[in-house]
Amino acid sequence: MKPDLVSAGKGMLLEPHHPALARDFTVHYLPMKPDEHAAFLKPIADKVRFLQTTGTYGANAALMDLLPKLEIIASVSVGVDTIDLAHAKKRGIRVTNTPDVLNDCVADLAMGLMIAAARRLAHSDRYVRDGKWLKGNMPIMIRVSRKRLGIVGLGKIGKVIAKRAAGFDMTIAYHGRAKQPDVPFQFYSDLAEMAANVDFMVVVTPGGPATKGLISDKVLRALGPKGILVNVSRGSVVDEPALVRALKEGALGGAGLDVFAAEPKVPEELFELENVALTPHVGSATSETRLDMGDLAIANLRAHLAGKPLLTPVV
Ligand code: DGY
Repeated sequence: MKPDLVSAGKGMLLEPHHPALARDFTVHYLPMKPDEHAAFLKPIADKVRFLQTTGTYGANAALMDLLPKLEIIASVSVGVDTIDLAHAKKRGIRVTNTPDVLNDCVADLAMGLMIAAARRLAHSDRYVRDGKWLKGNMPIMIRVSRKRLGIVGLGKIGKVIAKRAAGFDMTIAYHGRAKQPDVPFQFYSDLAEMAANVDFMVVVTPGGPATKGLISDKVLRALGPKGILVNVSRGSVVDEPALVRALKEGALGGAGLDVFAAEPKVPEELFELENVALTPHVGSATSETRLDMGDLAIANLRAHLAGKPLLTPVV
């Protein structure tokens, strides 16, 4: 008899992951709507020890408590802000994520959004398709190379972004909870002060209550009318209404955004702005990286099943 596993938010899994999961587990794909969870889980609740989830779907206390025998939650994401970690800890449920394997892809997208916002790539594409070039040239744009970059959250992904930015001859600064002893870049303990002293600011800090609204109106205005904000972390980190206001007023120069406060809803006011590049939370969305993420989540589930140490534990 294989142990029972509930899979929530199977969208992050690729085709090969389904037979891989089914090799060791009896898989139950959870309905997306929370009000269907209780009825769906009732017949199997007493035997489910494994839960696979995603960064978007997460696992709240209510879902965990429908599964009294739950032992492990493996998320196909680096971010775990949608998992109630305190509740998991209280219940003795282990939690794993998928760090490192997505660093390159998220850093690539951050650079892409920086260039897309400064060089107005999305707008340029529409300009050509709409036949506007036939009537005149695009207005000139903003250079990326040799500019000053501020990284909010110089963790593993932030460091890969710094490596990429060095290739663009950018001067790098960072803001975080503490100065890092072995890092050669300028550290700012005051985020608004860093914003006032850089041309581009990339947000790559984890989401959750500790960083909610960190990129405030004050920070956005300090970044200023020539500054560009790129967010590849979580929408919650930015005060979104303040961001929309600053962009509309011209108090902020531009933005490249992969994440939003209420995904998949994006403030429609952003659609009209030429200095904004928008992507639908796709930082890790390449076949190579998603394969690695799913494989790592499954490896954690198998490790737990075999009584071995977890590969990438969070809790
Ligand atoms: C992550 O891995 O956290 C990505 O943002 C996908 O949720």
